[in-house]
Amino acid sequence: MNTLVFTVSDPRDPALQTVGEILRRGGLAAIPTETVYGLAANALDDEAVRGIFRAKGRPADNPLIVHISDLSQWAPLVLDIPAQAKQLADAFWPGPLTVILPKSDRVSSVVSGGLSTVAVRMPSHPVARAIIDSAGVPLAAPSANTSGKPSPTTAQHVKDDMDSKIDCIVDAGPCSVGVESTVLSLAGDKPRLLRPGGVTPAMLERVLGEIDIDDAVYHQLAAGKTAASPGMKYKHYAPKAQVTILKGSFAQFCDYVESHKTPDTLALCFDGEEALLSVPAIAFGKESDGKSQAANIFAALRDVDRRGAGQVFARFPKMDGVGLAVFNRLVRAAAFHIVEL
Ligand code: TXA
Ligand code: MG
Repeated sequence: MNTLVFTVSDPRDPALQTVGEILRRGGLAAIPTETVYGLAANALDDEAVRGIFRAKGRPADNPLIVHISDLSQWAPLVLDIPAQAKQLADAFWPGPLTVILPKSDRVSSVVSGGLSTVAVRMPSHPVARAIIDSAGVPLAAPSANTSGKPSPTTAQHVKDDMDSKIDCIVDAGPCSVGVESTVLSLAGDKPRLLRPGGVTPAMLERVLGEIDIDDAVYHQLAAGKTAASPGMKYKHYAPKAQVTILKGSFAQFCDYVESHKTPDTLALCFDGEEALLSVPAIAFGKESDGKSQAANIFAALRDVDRRGAGQVFARFPKMDGVGLAVFNRLVRAAAFHIVEL
């Protein structure tokens, strides 16, 4: 299949009508969002949605997020919209928050991965919203990477994984948030954070009061335990290299790298530290700024492979605010390999 690329900066670009048509007739389109690029299909067309799983090599039990551009599209997808869900939508939509609720019959088990719930989000990216409007249907869209690889934050990342597998890619430049949306479940007794993202736990608690944070946000799922979010049980974001996160000061980091380096060692460090290291290094943001780390972490993880690294030592990101999302992605890329210095 020849994958078309549409470069778009204005949400009124007529090319988005073509993208809407592609989606309406069951095609696959990679679309920009404020978090990461998504691989979209008509959420109400099972055959189209199966195409997403095929293109990504995604396990069928890993459910998809349904994207809407207008609040009126939410009610038909769920059994009920409780007060807390409305408060969240008021506070954070459009934006990088996904809300899980019991699903209606209109959402097929192909989308929900066999679960009785559905994840919905309203993205804030004007081009994403224009594409949903133009398609006229809600769009199921996981991140547009090959399953297991770092999520794409540029159209080139998407092309590297999806060229010739999908109908088109809409290029609107790099994604601003850089990590996927916060996933919050309202399907249980108490709100539960399943995946940290641009909307932080503190922001959620200002609206909801206390929330639970799923164990899988911090830790590797224990063998035999069922994942609240199926995505969390799979290997994720992983470059080919063995990644180890080193927890300690920069001086300790330098010492450890010096005594453990091999010819194919690379460091993932904070801005400004590259020149002080004795191995090649890729910076993934400012030390004290989780937002800048979020914006760069996936591109940095992809660069690790491009540079042919075999062993990677990474700095430990601060776990507050958006930093929790950076830590969550990096620790998965490292297969939970952390050394305390
Ligand atoms: O920012 C984002 O959320 C991006 C953009 C494209 O919108 N999308 C995204 O989708 O990250 P994906 O499929 O890569 O990640 C969705 C995560 C997976 O871990 C999945 O298991 C979980 O959300 N999820 C989806 N539906 C769920 C459900 N009903 N119950 C529990 N977890 C669910
Ligand atoms: Mg993903």
